[in-house]
Amino acid sequence: MKVFQDKIALRRYIQELNLDINHTIGFVPTMGALHDGHISLIKQSKQRCNITIASIFVNPTQFNDINDFNKYPIQIDKDLEMLLEASCDIVYVPNVEEIYPNGVDEEKPKIDLGFLGTTLEAEKRPGHYEGVVQVVKKLLEIVQPDFLFLGQKDYQQCMVIQRLIDVFNIKTNIIICETMREKDGLAMSSRNMRLSSAERSVAVNLYQALKDIQDKYARENIETLIDNNIQKLNEESLIQVEYLVIVDGKTLENIKEYQENIPITTLIAAKVGNIRLIDNLILNR
Ligand code: PAF
Repeated sequence: MKVFQDKIALRRYIQELNLDINHTIGFVPTMGALHDGHISLIKQSKQRCNITIASIFVNPTQFNDINDFNKYPIQIDKDLEMLLEASCDIVYVPNVEEIYPNGVDEEKPKIDLGFLGTTLEAEKRPGHYEGVVQVVKKLLEIVQPDFLFLGQKDYQQCMVIQRLIDVFNIKTNIIICETMREKDGLAMSSRNMRLSSAERSVAVNLYQALKDIQDKYARENIETLIDNNIQKLNEESLIQVEYLVIVDGKTLENIKEYQENIPITTLIAAKVGNIRLIDNLILNR
């Protein structure tokens, strides 16, 4: 496994591999603190592509909360070990100056995210997706992958990155990979390692609410189903729901009534203690 901190050296190395037209590059961008969810993305890239590149970069411009950035877990040696074990071919580990040579306040790409840019995560985390777009655009320009592997857990982020790719006509295809879960159903996340044991044991309630919605949404009143689940979650003193919604899976507009022939997704964001977690289930494709 080759590790690069420098984009010029990384580009030179990729060019020297002399990949022909039939060889594909898969890319898994991460912010480190890797878990089995990330490793499953690496494995899926390895199955589909000839070369798999991962990046580890905690992007400061996508944090709307400085405390969240400061507390983001960093475990670079362990991450590299896990990537080696997963037979990742190349890892790109830039520092902030490498990605933002003109400073982190440089102008962000101008892109109209429409409703995606104002709803759910975008509303709760102002500026977050602008930072994601900014860093992913740079990473895609550096790595130039054929395929980009993203986790479904960040559902809205997948949609935002698809928009980025469409708007800038980037020659990369997104592969959205299923959310990896702990045995009890909690979605794997780097933030889970910051949960206390009391918080960890109630964090699974988020998944249980999504499952309850999955079981009932086609036959019960949607508003009541949502309200009941929010109330039940908030009864747990460690949990504070930010949103729990059933939306059109393509537009993220709220759905008032069940309709058979449209894509439907349920999404949740909640604080468990001080840790903010998100999750979702696709109810209808
Ligand atoms: O999902 C993440 O880990 C980050 O948002 C990403 C895509 C690596 C950009 O920093």
